[in-house]
Amino acid sequence: MNVRPIKVDDLIGMQACNLQNLPENYTMRYYLYHAMTWPSLSYVAEDHKGRIVGYILAKMEEDLKDDEEPHGHVTSISVLRPYRRLGLAKKLMVQSQEAMASVHHAAYVSLHVRKSNRAALSLYRDTLGFTVKDIEKGYYADGEDAYAMCLSLKP
Ligand code: ACO
Repeated sequence: MNVRPIKVDDLIGMQACNLQNLPENYTMRYYLYHAMTWPSLSYVAEDHKGRIVGYILAKMEEDLKDDEEPHGHVTSISVLRPYRRLGLAKKLMVQSQEAMASVHHAAYVSLHVRKSNRAALSLYRDTLGFTVKDIEKGYYADGEDAYAMCLSLKP
């Protein structure tokens, strides 16, 4: 399995992967916006035939409040079921985080995750060292709360 930065040709495969894995879905225009604006922050995992089996879609936060430092944000990450627990999500996260820091001087990375998403929570908190900053009540369309999490990228 190979992890590499995205190309515009990958966006259809990324969207297909997202539709299989998550109820939070996005327009093709939104994928394209990420790819065109922050090309170094999104990655795909592909199998030996070049089929996309996982992705991370990430960006720099745009609407910074006065006291906020520049920071990255993970819009979405997922890995197809047969390819899970192989370390792909960890690799996708680390590559994106490294580019956030080195290319965009991000001070930290943030994301939202469902309170019930044990696999993703374990990835973020236990494997990568994220902490919970806030609970956002009713963040998701079905009313579930989100943990707002972040991880410092400062050396
Ligand atoms: N149960 C418990 N811990 C888990 C699980 C699980 N099912 N999956 C991953 N982890 C933790 C473990 O600590 C694991 O390390 P280990 O295998 O050495 O024990 C660590 O995360 C790294 O696991 P990876 O193999 O890198 O993770 P994977 O490639 O399987 O992808 C992911 C994890 C992305 C959460 C996957 O399960 C998935 O696609 N789920 C559906 C989509 C989803 O929930 N995406 C996140 C939504 S939030 C957002 O997008 C910001």
